Amino acid sequence: MSTGNEAEAILIVGAGLAGVSAAESVRRAGFDGRVILAGDEPDAPYDRPPLSKSVLRNPEALSNLELRDPGFYAENGIEVKLASTAELIDRSSRRVHFSDGTTVLYKKLVLTTGSTLRILPILPPGMPSVFYLRRLSDALALREALPQTRRMMIVGAGVIGLEVAATARALGIAVTVLEAAATPMARAMCPNLCDFILRQHTDHGVHIRTNTTIVNVHRFGAGYRVTLSDGDTVDTDAIVVGIGVVPNIGLAEAAGLAVSANGIHVDEFGQTSDENVYAAGEVAFHYNHRVGHMDRQENWLHAAAHGEHVGRTLVAGGSGYNEICGYWSDQFDFSIQSFGTPKGDRDVVRGTVESGSFTIFHLVGDVVKGVSSINAARDMRTGKALVRDGARIPEAVLSDPTIDLGKWRQSALTSPAE
Ligand code: FAD
Ligand code: APR
Repeated sequence: MSTGNEAEAILIVGAGLAGVSAAESVRRAGFDGRVILAGDEPDAPYDRPPLSKSVLRNPEALSNLELRDPGFYAENGIEVKLASTAELIDRSSRRVHFSDGTTVLYKKLVLTTGSTLRILPILPPGMPSVFYLRRLSDALALREALPQTRRMMIVGAGVIGLEVAATARALGIAVTVLEAAATPMARAMCPNLCDFILRQHTDHGVHIRTNTTIVNVHRFGAGYRVTLSDGDTVDTDAIVVGIGVVPNIGLAEAAGLAVSANGIHVDEFGQTSDENVYAAGEVAFHYNHRVGHMDRQENWLHAAAHGEHVGRTLVAGGSGYNEICGYWSDQFDFSIQSFGTPKGDRDVVRGTVESGSFTIFHLVGDVVKGVSSINAARDMRTGKALVRDGARIPEAVLSDPTIDLGKWRQSALTSPAE
C-alpha cells in the first residue's frame, strides 16, 4: 500500500530532535513538496534531557516535554507518522517500507534514527526492578519505582547514571554507583571536573565504586544480591543501567549504505554514499569543518544544529557543517556546561574548584578550543565566544578571576593581526 503521490516528498525517518529540526528547516529553506516525519515511538516528538532530570522528580515536567507546540506540524505542512518503524529502504525504487504495512516513496530520505542503549548482558531490559533510560516510557517506569526503592545500584557513572544518582539521593535513597573506568564521566570531561564531580557525589552520600563491574546477580527478596568484580556483594532493591549508547545503523546497513560502528558515514552536508539519502544527528558519523575530521556527537546541541543544517542545505545548498557543540548536565545543586573540546593539552582553571563555581579553559597549543564550567554562567558566555574566536589568551589571564575576560576578548579582536 502507498500513502499517496509522494514523488516529490522528503521523508525523514526518526522523529527525535534531529528529525524535527530537519523537518522544520526543509520547510524554512523553501521546500514546498510533502514533508513526512516518521518515527517508531508512539508519543509526539519530545525532548530527552528532562527524562533523567525533572521528569523523575516532578510530574508537571511532562506537560513541557514536546519539542514543538501541537499545532506546529500542521501549520508547517509536516505530516507526522508515529508508531511506525521503518523496516526496509529500497534505494533502487526510492521507497521505505514501514511496520504498519505502508510504503513511502521519497525524493530525498533523511535518516535521523539516533542511538539505542548499550545493554549489559547480565541485566537485560525487562528484568524486574532493572531500569534503562532512553525513552519517555523508561523514565515513567523508573519514576514509578522510586517511592518503593530504599537502595539503588547504578551501573555506569556517565551523564545518565550520575543524574539519576543525584535525584535518588535527593529522595533519600541509598545509592551505589559502579563505574568500570578509573573516574566518573571520563568520556567527556577533563580530570579536574571528574575529581570535582566524584567529590560532590561522595559528599552527598553517593557511594561511587570506580574500576568496578558486576560479575554476578541473583534475586534476593524483592531485589537483587550483586557480586562485584572486587569480590564484594551488595544488596539492592533496584538497578539502573547507564553504560552508554550505540548509533542505530541497522536500517542503513541493510540498505547497503556506508556505515561502521561509528555511525552512518556522511559528508559535510550529511549526504550518505547514496546521493538521495542523508543522515543527521546522533546516528551520523559526519564531517565537521571546525574539528577538521569525521566525528559523532552525543548531545542535544549537535542533534538540533546538524538536523537543521542537513535539512537546509539539502534544499538550498550552502557551506558545510562547522558547528561547535557542547552539553550540559544538572546534578544536585550544580550545573555542568561544556562547549567545544572537553579536554585540552592543558586545562586552565579560572576560580577555585573548592568554591564550587569555576571555569576551565581547554587549550590545544595556545588556542582556546573548549570551555567547561560549574555554576559559572557569565564566564561560560565569554568562554564560548573565545572558543568561537579561536582566541589566544595567556594562561595567566585566563586563570585570574579578577581580570575581565570580555575586555581581553575585545582587545584581542581589535588589535592588528600579526
Ligand atoms: P534520538 O533522540 O535518539 O531520536 C531518534 C529517533 O528515531 C527515536 O525516537 C528512535 O526511536 C527513532 N528511530 C530509530 N530507528 C527508527 C526506525 N527504524 N524507524 C522509525 N524511527 C526510528 N544531551 C545534552 O546535551 N544534555 C543533556 O543534559 C542530555 N540529557 C539527556 C538525558 C537522557 C535521558 C537522554 C536519553 C539523552 C540526553 N541527552 C542530553 C542527549 C540528547 O538528548 C541526544 O543527543 C538527542 O536526543 C539526540 O537526538 P537524535 O534526534 O539524533 O536521536
Ligand atoms: N560497568 C560499569 N560501568 C560501565 C560499564 C560496565 N559494564 N560499561 C560502561 N561503563 C561506564 C563507562 O565507563 C561510562 O563512564 O558507563 C559510563 C557511560 O557513560 P556515557 O557514555 O556518558 O553514557 P550514559 O551516561 O549512559 O549516557 C548515554 O545519554 O545523556 C546522554 O549524551 C549522553 O549520549 C549519552 C547518552
